[in-house]
Amino acid sequence: MTFKEKSASGKKLSLNGDERSHSTQKKQGWEYSASPESTDHIQLRKKYDLFIGGQWVKAAKYFPTINPATEEKIALAAFASNSDVNKAVLSAKRAYEKVWSKVSPKERAKYIFRIARIMQEKAREFAVIESMDGGKPIKESKGIDVPLSIAHFFYYAGWADKLQFAFPGKKFLPVGVVGQIIPWNFPLLMAAWKIAPALACGNTVVIKSAETTPLTLYKLAEVIEEAELPAGVVNIISGAGETGAAIVNHPEVKKIAFTGSTEVGKIILRSIAGTDKKVTLELGGKAANIIFEDAPIDQAIEGIINGIYFNQGHVCCAGSRLLVQESIKDTVVKKLKYRLRSLKVGDPLDKNTDVGAINSKEQLKKIKELVSSGVDEGCTLYQSDCTLPERGFWFRPSFFTNVAQSNRIAREEIFGPVLSIMTFRTPKEAIEKANNTQYGLSAGIWTDKGSKIFKMAGDIKAGVVWSNTFNKFNPASPFGGYKESGFGREGGLHGLKEYLSFNE
Ligand code: NAI
Ligand code: MG
Repeated sequence: MTFKEKSASGKKLSLNGDERSHSTQKKQGWEYSASPESTDHIQLRKKYDLFIGGQWVKAAKYFPTINPATEEKIALAAFASNSDVNKAVLSAKRAYEKVWSKVSPKERAKYIFRIARIMQEKAREFAVIESMDGGKPIKESKGIDVPLSIAHFFYYAGWADKLQFAFPGKKFLPVGVVGQIIPWNFPLLMAAWKIAPALACGNTVVIKSAETTPLTLYKLAEVIEEAELPAGVVNIISGAGETGAAIVNHPEVKKIAFTGSTEVGKIILRSIAGTDKKVTLELGGKAANIIFEDAPIDQAIEGIINGIYFNQGHVCCAGSRLLVQESIKDTVVKKLKYRLRSLKVGDPLDKNTDVGAINSKEQLKKIKELVSSGVDEGCTLYQSDCTLPERGFWFRPSFFTNVAQSNRIAREEIFGPVLSIMTFRTPKEAIEKANNTQYGLSAGIWTDKGSKIFKMAGDIKAGVVWSNTFNKFNPASPFGGYKESGFGREGGLHGLKEYLSFNE
């Protein structure tokens, strides 16, 4: 049986007051009118060359980047070859030795600050392009990705001339050339997380965007040009896994910052074994979002929704395993079903859209395969009954009940809008279940009791533990994982440390 057939036979809920008024609204046609963000203000080239040494450099090969909501081609992006990577690394090395290492920290700060200011001016354009290229709702790119990216540049601009206060009594130097490889789920934000601290610490950069989302990084290259950052300090390229591998293996790259799959993280670690390269890896996750019976339930429901359906669930720290105390399970499931019905799925550029397009055909295939495995293993699937657009890549907001810890959907990262719901009886059982994973990136706790929050947060092995909230980010707050979620921290003081070499 396929999961589609199973969902169609899902039982109808009995309606409470709220639900009745909702269904009446639907019948009377009280739907939101379309509210599309305009695209006439954005400027895109038809073809993006590589941004190396402050120049736009032609590549031998180009690949199309499409809009996953329409499957239409947006532009061509250069596919950097090994020799292009070499060019970018050597240009970063030259810029480091001849220019950037001689620029005073105070001047470095001004450049980073200028990048942030120019990004602010272009914030709307960045948001629209991010949503077009990657499929995320415009309200998220406009309200989260872009402002948070800018905030990272502002934050690290502030540190550039105060590093001795960040690490008092320590002697340190920049690392030199850093290689940065980022994924497709938060392209601009991941670039900001990586470029801003690298520059603040006095390094030069070669950064590669992911296969499906090269555009906002090339927009950032235009900002960097406009900020008159010395040529070669930041080199921006696009390509595929082999391009990333060429960065990792280049002998002049002294530090690697990677965000992506655990599988590729392991490849990177293996290939740099025996070298003196520094590395930070931010990999997958399977976070527990834990709801106690004393939690403010309606807030917790919003936290669950935000935890798993934000950015279509393409979030490494997504709250993809819901652990709900047994006594309130039925209430939570009922409220979730109701809430799922009001999630608007569709055009990422529509301001009312809650859940946009799945980033790529490949990712959609992976989500479908894992969801089928959940159905085959006997879990119960519930899906939103919204209508989906005909073209593009879409997946209904979904959740599973009757999930065992051994099921694949409870163990593997689905990286889509799919939640696995399990129950617990005692805090001890919740901790055991939360930690029963190969990952350790994030977790959420919902309870009225402060003491419970402290106990749980201390016992859960995760880099970030949110209490009575979820998916909250701030440039001052370090982010990163344990176990197979990787190591090293991005953000805050911790994030600076990764871009300096200490002479202890
Ligand atoms: P991926 O790990 O293959 O891609 C991430 C980045 O690494 C891309 O820029 C890619 O070009 C690059 N890359 C690939 N192979 C490389 C290599 N050998 N050396 C250096 N760089 C390399 O992730 P993919 O295939 O796009 O997604 C697969 C799964 O990974 C997703 O379904 C999701 O579960 C997980 N993922 C997790 C992310 C996170 O934020 N933790 C982000 C993206 C994917
Ligand atoms: Mg794209």
